[in-house]
Amino acid sequence: MSKPHIPLDEIRAQVEACHACPLADGRTQTVFGVGNPAARVLIVGEAPGKNEDLQGEPFVGAAGKYLDELLSVAGLKREDVFIANVLKCRPPGNRDPRPEEIEVCTPFLREQTRTIDPEFIVTLGNFATKFILKTEIGITRLHGTLHQAGKFKVFPIFHPAAALYDGKKREALENDFATLGELLGKENNEE
Ligand code: URA
Repeated sequence: MSKPHIPLDEIRAQVEACHACPLADGRTQTVFGVGNPAARVLIVGEAPGKNEDLQGEPFVGAAGKYLDELLSVAGLKREDVFIANVLKCRPPGNRDPRPEEIEVCTPFLREQTRTIDPEFIVTLGNFATKFILKTEIGITRLHGTLHQAGKFKVFPIFHPAAALYDGKKREALENDFATLGELLGKENNEE
């Protein structure tokens, strides 16, 4: 028999109490994630930045504003989806997550995923994509293509922060979110 799902509030309390790695010492607060607890789409980013650390919510800075625009391309609002990150605490100076941080932090993401039980996981950028798909293939090759990880459909997309100042990536991101909207529509039509 499979393990019972842990309620999101309980996972949140575990995240808030976590001191498993040194990132806990530098945080203002943890960033658990936000959104619809029964979402069809779970969006997974990399790690909180400065604004997220201050506000306790993912994607509230410039990349977050852009993410809201991209969600609307897919016919989605922030309240429709659940947004979380690979890491729940901000790495100093927004450096890349380290393998040992990913290892100790991702059991939280795994439990969030089990509880939310989305149809689609949209991975933003390399860190989320590599973790969810257990792949070494980079986001440049994988973005915009549909994959399966266990019971979940996985749709990798460039990280919006990487595209803010890169017109080519912006075009790819917008196309990929349009495709996501189509995938969601198709799934709806099949029902
Ligand atoms: N970038 C991320 O990957 N996550 C956030 O929450 C903010 C910026």
